[in-house]
Amino acid sequence: MKILVTGAAGYIGSHTALRLIEQGHQVVALDNLVYGHRDVLTTLGIKDYYIGDIGDPNLLRRIFQEHRFEAVMHFSAFAYVGESVTKPDIYYNNNVVRTVTLLDRCVEAGVKAFVFSSTCATYGMARSDRISEDHPQNPINPYGQSKLMVEHILRDYERAYDLRHVILRYFNAAGADPKARIGERHDPETHLIPLVLDAALGRRDSIKIFGTDYDTPDGTCIRDYIHVNDLAQAHILGLEQAINQNASAIYNLGNGNGYSVKEVIETCREVSGRPIQTEATERRAGDPPVLVAAADKARKQLGWQPEFADLESIVTHAWRFHESHFA
Ligand SMILES: NC(=O)c1ccc[n+]([C@@H]2O[C@H](COP(=O)([O-])OP(=O)(O)OC[C@H]3O[C@@H](n4cnc5c(N)ncnc54)[C@H](O)[C@@H]3O)[C@@H](O)[C@H]2O)c1
Repeated sequence: MKILVTGAAGYIGSHTALRLIEQGHQVVALDNLVYGHRDVLTTLGIKDYYIGDIGDPNLLRRIFQEHRFEAVMHFSAFAYVGESVTKPDIYYNNNVVRTVTLLDRCVEAGVKAFVFSSTCATYGMARSDRISEDHPQNPINPYGQSKLMVEHILRDYERAYDLRHVILRYFNAAGADPKARIGERHDPETHLIPLVLDAALGRRDSIKIFGTDYDTPDGTCIRDYIHVNDLAQAHILGLEQAINQNASAIYNLGNGNGYSVKEVIETCREVSGRPIQTEATERRAGDPPVLVAAADKARKQLGWQPEFADLESIVTHAWRFHESHFA
């Protein structure tokens, strides 16, 4: 299949593009490099790439004239929760308004399916420890709200224009390409595993633990970490199913296992063999104690089998990349 991948120079987009290429698909990349890395496109060997914005209608017209896509995988977005609270305008603009511009070109060009990076942040405060796809969606920040808005828009576009969608609600994406060709390079970084690995490398003095008095076995928050390659594979399975069955679907993508902040730090110590200093601080507002996916639907309906479901593999791959890239 020929697939347009937006945000292909970013973390999850690049890992998915790599997997698509390895499975024989043709990838055309679009990224404005606001957060992405140009060298990633070279590493992936993508010849057809456009450096530009999904909100630029003229560029989109050109791309859709030059290629005929069966599908679009849409990763590009702003994804800093805290920033979305202080600058909601740029989140609604980038994540919602510009996505509509992209969707309009998809409809015009007769694209068969649109795969969308949504998030567990659309659920808001968890009412249960395990969250299934039918959990109420009440986002508590503009980032989650912007993703939920696009979910609603996708449903309306299907009804009106027959554009099939696959909505994938990721939990905590982590890990890296096992061969360390690409990995996680957010700047600024806010995700736990790369921050802990920064402390292991001496790029930061210590790692802050926000809250050690939660009602969890070791008092720290529990999250569901999902290997970026397993995420990538779920995108491909979801897309194939949407096209073969001519139907839309929504899936949570997580492992269904939770690991505490302390467990993550301990695994990083074991894998890196380095000491890691920690600093216990106050809880952060809005952090639920436990956030774990009920992810059976993707396994059952897509035959998706996460390959790296254990924390040690996830951290091992993240460390391999982190050490080779940042040391
Ligand atoms: N990383 C996670 O744990 C996680 C969890 C849930 C959902 N998500 C979603 O997954 C997607 C990818 O996340 P990521 O961690 O790879 O982020 P990322 O920042 O690494 O990648 C996003 C890419 O999109 C590009 N981009 C942003 N706005 C653009 C625009 N208007 N036009 C063109 N390119 C643009 C950026 O330059 C970047 O390369 C995002 O939509 C994010 O909301 C991520």
